[in-house]
Amino acid sequence: CFGSAAVQRNPSFSMLNSDDINYFKGILGDKNVIQDEDRLLTANTDWMNKYRGSSKLLLLPRSTEEVSQILNYCNSRSLAVVPQGGNTGLVGGSVPVYDEVIINVGLMNSVISFDKVSGILVCEAGCILENLITFLDTQGFVMPLDLGAKGSCQIGGNVSTNAGGLRLVRYGSLHGNILGIEAVLANGDVLDMLGTLRKDNTGYDLKHLFIGSEGSLGIVTKVSILTPPKLSSVNLAFLACKDYFSCQKLLVEAKRKLGEILSAFEFLDNVAMDLALNHLEGVRNPLPPSLHNFYVLIETTGSNESSDKEKLEAFLLHAMEVGLISDGALSQDINQASSFWRLREGLPEALQKAGAVYKYDLSIPVEKMYDLVEEMRTRLGAPTKVVAYGHLGDGNLHLNISAPQYDEKILAQIEPFVYEWTSKHRGSISAEHGLGLMKANEIFYSKSKNTVQLMSSIKKLLDPNGILNPYKVLPHSLST
Ligand code: FAD
Ligand code: MLT
Ligand code: ZN
Repeated sequence: CFGSAAVQRNPSFSMLNSDDINYFKGILGDKNVIQDEDRLLTANTDWMNKYRGSSKLLLLPRSTEEVSQILNYCNSRSLAVVPQGGNTGLVGGSVPVYDEVIINVGLMNSVISFDKVSGILVCEAGCILENLITFLDTQGFVMPLDLGAKGSCQIGGNVSTNAGGLRLVRYGSLHGNILGIEAVLANGDVLDMLGTLRKDNTGYDLKHLFIGSEGSLGIVTKVSILTPPKLSSVNLAFLACKDYFSCQKLLVEAKRKLGEILSAFEFLDNVAMDLALNHLEGVRNPLPPSLHNFYVLIETTGSNESSDKEKLEAFLLHAMEVGLISDGALSQDINQASSFWRLREGLPEALQKAGAVYKYDLSIPVEKMYDLVEEMRTRLGAPTKVVAYGHLGDGNLHLNISAPQYDEKILAQIEPFVYEWTSKHRGSISAEHGLGLMKANEIFYSKSKNTVQLMSSIKKLLDPNGILNPYKVLPHSLST
């Protein structure tokens, strides 16, 4: 387990005492002040079982007012806090490093309003993504965001990580879809930026500071989201390609030929496929067994069933004729479509089951992306497995090194090589997962010195005592 090894506890933070607990009980009631050891162990441990803190307290506020009172108190007492959502983050950002108080807005999970004309949803930050997807479905709309952790992650966590996911190629990032935010600052001030307008150029658009700030600037308590209408025709193809170049060409062709109906373009390599088949119950390869090196999932979403299908079939036929695809299957019903998605979305879980995993989430120009995977394989050899998948349509590689257990020697072979390589190709060391604790010190591989300095100044302005998610996002030299 990693955690405190990378950084010293900031001595300016107070230690929790019984007066603090009594104060919190006074605000939240006994029930929502959690000191139970089992619940704390879960809240202290991240999804990968890689990072573990030692917090003695989990707080469950039910309203913005309660969040405000908690933060105001923590700030005046110099008690450090970690905002936590569904705790599905993959960079050690959602769990304490030491004894930070954990604040989870999961009880704030109501839909506040939905406008069927504009498609604008306003809800509390603790809503679970899948519940919002289900709610919107009943209204004839869809979330512009979908990801494998939908059953647990909260919209507040999604916004705070600026999560990308499976449909970004179609709907763009949350910076485009989040129209408003309510957030509570470290001193308890409530910032009402909960607009529901598509256009509002009245000066600095400060909500964007909170999108992707990983709980370091404030606790997000409400959001408003622009949601697109649900379209009647969704098709999903699971395809095999003989080499990476074919995947790349297929992407270029898909963007050109499928255009406005393209809604996902995901890829996995054969090592990822083997992993899924070995570790995910009930998952099987949709294609007949053969030696395929790469697999691509293409989804289309449109409004005209016959012409959408015709368009996709013509595209696939042509791709087959020119040799870009070596085999393929088109889902025939919703169950088959979910089984295709299960294979792709289950990959993080398959990696978990396989042992220890070193996870890298990189933006790299598509034509260079797989070179890194091959170089890594050559560098590492057995007993590690280098597993590649990701959101090819967005230039986002998920490079995962699976090993029997965490081992400093393996880590030294991977880092800083992976970051240097990414930086050399002008990529990003975090495409969508954020920096958290894992990559706080690596920020300079992707951001210039004065940009990081300005980030640090903004952090100091909004959180002068540094109580919000300490040791994360900013390099430790600047944050403690
Ligand atoms: P947490 O993990 O609890 O927290 C994440 C960060 O946000 C932390 O820094 C935390 O302090 C902060 N935070 C949480 N809630 C708040 C709040 N209300 N206010 C302020 N700060 C807050 N990510 C992607 O981008 N794309 C994917 O496709 C994707 N797929 C995933 C699949 C799986 C199986 C898993 C386990 C994770 C995946 N993730 C993906 C990573 C993860 O970032 C997302 O799951 C999600 O956005 C995190 O939401 P959460 O509620 O679990 O937040
Ligand atoms: C995904 O796309 O599956 C997620 O980002 C999680 C991961 O990278 O493993
Ligand atoms: Zn992803």
